[in-house]
Amino acid sequence: MDYLSLSRAARLAGVTRAELQRRIRRGEIATFEGSVAIGDLLRLYPRVSLTDDAALERTERIKSDALPKLGHAGETTLPDPRVLLSRLRGLSATLADRMSHLEAANVLLDQIGARLDAVSRRPPEQLPDALQATRDWLRTQRERLDSEAAPDQRAQLLAKDTLLRLMAANVKLIPSGHDFFVEGNETILDASVRAGLKLGYGCASGNCGNCKARVLSGETWKIRDHDYVIGEREKAMGYILTCSHTAVTDLVIEAAEALRVEDLPRQEIRASLRKLERLSPDLVALTIQTPRTQTLRFMAGQRATLALEGGQTQELPIASCPCNGRHLWFYVRRRADAFSQAVHAGLRHGQLVTVTGPSGRLVLKEDAPEPAVFIALGDGIAPIKSLIEHAVSIDLIESFHLYWDTQHPEGHHQARWGRALKDALDNFSFTPLVSGRTEDLMAVIRADHEALEGLRFYIAGPAIPVQRTLASLCDLGVAPDRISTEETES
Ligand code: FES
Repeated sequence: MDYLSLSRAARLAGVTRAELQRRIRRGEIATFEGSVAIGDLLRLYPRVSLTDDAALERTERIKSDALPKLGHAGETTLPDPRVLLSRLRGLSATLADRMSHLEAANVLLDQIGARLDAVSRRPPEQLPDALQATRDWLRTQRERLDSEAAPDQRAQLLAKDTLLRLMAANVKLIPSGHDFFVEGNETILDASVRAGLKLGYGCASGNCGNCKARVLSGETWKIRDHDYVIGEREKAMGYILTCSHTAVTDLVIEAAEALRVEDLPRQEIRASLRKLERLSPDLVALTIQTPRTQTLRFMAGQRATLALEGGQTQELPIASCPCNGRHLWFYVRRRADAFSQAVHAGLRHGQLVTVTGPSGRLVLKEDAPEPAVFIALGDGIAPIKSLIEHAVSIDLIESFHLYWDTQHPEGHHQARWGRALKDALDNFSFTPLVSGRTEDLMAVIRADHEALEGLRFYIAGPAIPVQRTLASLCDLGVAPDRISTEETES
């Protein structure tokens, strides 16, 4: 194995995929059909260790879910997951050691062959001395081989990769080329949603067949029975339900993804109010929970229409990530309309809220990994928050900067979220502003970024400030097709 997928390479090196892609764009590492050579990876990240590693720590966190729940009489009881992980680490260390010795032994065999060739060309009277010299040389080489305790970097990396393969399988989607990891005992569908991808599905519980996909290579395991029947012919062709199977080995799957907003169906879901949080006398945050079998499929930055039991409706930007489609966040500002009045008067926990959608065209350009600038103006933070959370989950954007200019009295009510992201990610910056003037915002952005032309902009907020910001950016030389806007109110 000489090449690794980008995701695997990032895991092994302990860096994000965005970091690897940045180095690829700079020409520091070459790619071949989306993969990188092991030698190139080791050149950039020579410190590959089997222990003390973030990726392995993460696998520890999922260890309790990674095992089948056994316990019926007569079945084998597996050791504690921690014991298993520790044994796997031991086996990996041994594997690294053996691989290293094998590699060195192969080199030695080549050298022996070359020496014997040279000896065979000597005159007969010199043969005894030449053979004696070869025997002495060979003894020294054997001693050196035995004393070399540390496995070489390449063997360490391959052994570590073996361990990670045991803990998490990589799934590559055809034709998009997107890939993600299936960890623990989660389904392929759940893992794809967590990774921010948009595979087709409906019930998520084995009834509708909408998640049917074809396995082109690798092995899957059915982790739940399903009512939907896959015909024998399709079974023979490799079709499975991604909501009912997990990955045993690395997989290549042929499955359609929603890549444009038009690819997503309009959905109507009978959901319920999980939480109503009063952020200020004029602003409420709603968390709407969908049934377990019916998550809302939407793209980050889109909107949904909420209908209350009393018939009041409102279309609102979704403020949460599609990777958590069961819990939808919305902000509702106090206004004169019936929906806002009803929400601010107070809603009953658990009351029915019908969610219809998605709608809206402000979505992340996922094939554009250049640095992104997100500009939230006032309540425009809702779709921007969704976009940023999605950007974090897909880990493809080189770097991103959030500017949030608001003059509402409750201030930057999501400032803690912004600061937490800033602390956790070294490619994210957060600048809260209290200005309301486009000139001030532009001055700050220009001071932070030398050249604006290479950036991608996402702007959301009330219509007039959004249009002013758009015009200012165009005046500064940013191409209009690099700017996406969303007017959250007129
Ligand atoms: S989503 Fe309905 S069967 Fe899988």
